[in-house]
Amino acid sequence: MGLKKILHMNTGNGKTSYANNSSFQNVVISKTWDLVDETLRNMLENHGFSGSCMNIVDLGCASGPNALRVVSHVMDTIHDLRKTGDCSCCKPLEVRFFLNDLPDNDFNSLFKPVEDFNEEKRLVCGSIRSGCFIYGLPGSFYTRLFPTKSLHFAYSSCSLHWLSQVPRGLESENKENMYISIASPPEVVDAYAQQYKRDLMAFLSMRGEEMVDGGSIVLTFIGRKFQDFSSKDESGQFTMLSQTLLQMVAQGVLEKDDLYSFNVPIYMPCQQEVESIIDHQGSFKIDKIVAFLVRWDANKYADELPFDKNRSGKLVADCIRAFMEPMLVSHFGKSIDCDDIFQRYAERVGEHLAKERSSYQMLSISLSIS
Ligand SMILES: C[S@@+](CC[C@H](N)C(=O)[O-])C[C@H]1O[C@@H](n2cnc3c(N)ncnc32)[C@H](O)[C@@H]1O
Repeated sequence: MGLKKILHMNTGNGKTSYANNSSFQNVVISKTWDLVDETLRNMLENHGFSGSCMNIVDLGCASGPNALRVVSHVMDTIHDLRKTGDCSCCKPLEVRFFLNDLPDNDFNSLFKPVEDFNEEKRLVCGSIRSGCFIYGLPGSFYTRLFPTKSLHFAYSSCSLHWLSQVPRGLESENKENMYISIASPPEVVDAYAQQYKRDLMAFLSMRGEEMVDGGSIVLTFIGRKFQDFSSKDESGQFTMLSQTLLQMVAQGVLEKDDLYSFNVPIYMPCQQEVESIIDHQGSFKIDKIVAFLVRWDANKYADELPFDKNRSGKLVADCIRAFMEPMLVSHFGKSIDCDDIFQRYAERVGEHLAKERSSYQMLSISLSIS
């Protein structure tokens, strides 16, 4: 089965859905606002906007509240910039806002609240006619999604670390690991890094063709601090999930061969790597890069409540389950017991966090067409 079919978040609004377990991504999104605002300000100040309709996309929006938060913030920023800007840009502006994800994303749940959202936004923006029309855009962001020179602004958060496929040839090499670990052989690291390079080059080249002159992008994704994978395990969540599955293999609950052939299509690049690929590809210039840390158990209560290893372990497990469950079920079969896996995993992560409050290194990049 193609990756496009098995890579999707848990659907709906239930207990294990992405919509209810995306507080880590929600915290990340909040930390991107300054860069989004700065990028939009530069874009409008330096290039103006003479048309009447702007095309904007959120690439890899998933479903749940995060997607409409992005629409709302971008629209409010544009509204404020135009209100305070000089009159040359105060003509009525309408926005086509595209919500993009892979075709198996839960677009139905995503679009249910859109009608209420539109009503609310119309009250705010109605007077200056900054109308926002929201569309679904199914398709891979590694392919063309827009006509030539038609896209003005693109945003993406927590999506671009997903590869277009599991790198080829890992099956016999990566054994009990599902991603790069501190002990992974150089062939595994190289296969992942090469796949990432191919994918990011394709992404930049597609967007380069689609963007209008003066268009901009803000991309935020999980990265890593250290260039050398063997210096520190920065992908501990996957290492711990591998260890959980390995324990279940040892107990006869899962098949060893199934675990050995399971690898995730994710790559967390370091800043130098990303800069070098963007420079080499050449469609965009980097205006700004911001690196920041986000705790694994980040959520809106994180700084208010005292640390509790059980609560934090469960938060991380629920978040990981929301995107790993469809992949695990597809690979290990429908009889796999995800309640059991993520209960064990939550305990393991909780014990780890009690010793070390781990964070992910996030990279946020503002690009403009060169
Ligand atoms: C962790 S979610 C992030 C969703 C949302 N941006 C947020 O911050 O809550 C990653 C999303 O990227 C999507 N995705 C991964 N690869 C993609 C691709 N090649 N094209 C479009 N979407 C993709 C996944 O389907 C998933 O919905």
